[in-house]
Amino acid sequence: MKREVELSILDELFRQLDDKRNVDAGVMYQNPTSVYTSTEVADRERETFFRDHPQLIALSGSLPEPGSYMTVDDFGVPVLATRDSDGRFRAFVNACRHRGARVAEGQGKAAAFKCPFHNWVYSNRGELTGIPLADHVGALDRSCHGLVELPAVEQGGLLWVHPRADGRIDLEQQLGDLGAEIASWGFGDLRLVGESVIEGRLNWKLANDTFGETYHFSRLHKNTLGQIFHGDVLGYEEFGRNHRFVIATKRLDELRAKPRNEWSLLDATSPLYYLFPNIQLSFGRGTVSLIKIYPDPERPGDPSHSRTRVLHYFSQEAIDLAEAAGEHGVTAENTYSAEASRDPDAVLTLSAFTEVFDSTIEKEDYLMGEHQQRAAESGQLEHLVFGRNEPALHHYHSHFRDALGLRPLQQIDP
Ligand code: FES
Ligand SMILES: [Fe+2]
Repeated sequence: MKREVELSILDELFRQLDDKRNVDAGVMYQNPTSVYTSTEVADRERETFFRDHPQLIALSGSLPEPGSYMTVDDFGVPVLATRDSDGRFRAFVNACRHRGARVAEGQGKAAAFKCPFHNWVYSNRGELTGIPLADHVGALDRSCHGLVELPAVEQGGLLWVHPRADGRIDLEQQLGDLGAEIASWGFGDLRLVGESVIEGRLNWKLANDTFGETYHFSRLHKNTLGQIFHGDVLGYEEFGRNHRFVIATKRLDELRAKPRNEWSLLDATSPLYYLFPNIQLSFGRGTVSLIKIYPDPERPGDPSHSRTRVLHYFSQEAIDLAEAAGEHGVTAENTYSAEASRDPDAVLTLSAFTEVFDSTIEKEDYLMGEHQQRAAESGQLEHLVFGRNEPALHHYHSHFRDALGLRPLQQIDP
């Protein structure tokens, strides 16, 4: 991130704190609840956003070395992603060219993949290299029967896959200026340390919405995240369909006492990039949580359930610190203590980090989302309100409506 951007975000957060005034979009909108319940909208979303749109599947650290592989089953097309023996990131449909069985499960390291059904074998470049009793099967041009390759791009530490073989990934168009800023953080050097999945009875957009404002921090998260973060302040900027969302920790007050040339964004904030349509990329010093939110892929066309997959990455330094801290007994219980939040040396163990992060989302944010889902399904609330202090929700909902050709959000007259 450019230094002047870093300073301008901090200046803005100080201004909001001093003025006791959150970010202000200047307008309010009505959000129709039907968008969370309509099966027609759900069908169009699936086709537009999940079958025909580039998907950010992971950070580079999920495929740490030549031969690494991972499978992805969250957006309707089963994907096998590999780092081939030359170190190149590739992606394939995880389906055998004989009769379509899956050729790989989970993640790990492999030079070749043997289909469990009749044992056809594929290299990590997707080539068909082995057919048992090939003369019984018949003459087959192996060069035409490799795994179906999908467009795959590794850039700035992010791994992108297009779910259609004939699809196109244009990160310049998709990320614009944000691409260089994301690349500047060096996410590609981080290692995968944990993963969790939250299956919830809420529309995927309600799950996204919980990441879209700081208004609830001091209220819903009063005893959890609210201990660490300032609510009602936000460094917010839009980049096309994406946005940057910077939340302030209570260490911001200490930062102000330091000379300006020592100010560092990651000392006192937790930035998050929202990447259209379903990614929340939250990070701190040496840590990233990649939050991927999907309509439940096991219930195609059903708008009432979603799956959130969170991948946690740490730098080697953060892993070392966390392991050392683990020996000294830093646990989930004291993670949110006021003492820990004030102690600049306090670090979390890996399990505490992932557990606390996930349980806050699941037990607090998504609980609200499940209530909202039931309310929307009751049919008795036609609209909800997006306040002036919730500009990221205006932005997100305006763009996905636009992408689906739905009529724009209606402003609420003051
Ligand atoms: S389906 Fe894979 S070998 Fe037959
Ligand atoms: Fe929250």
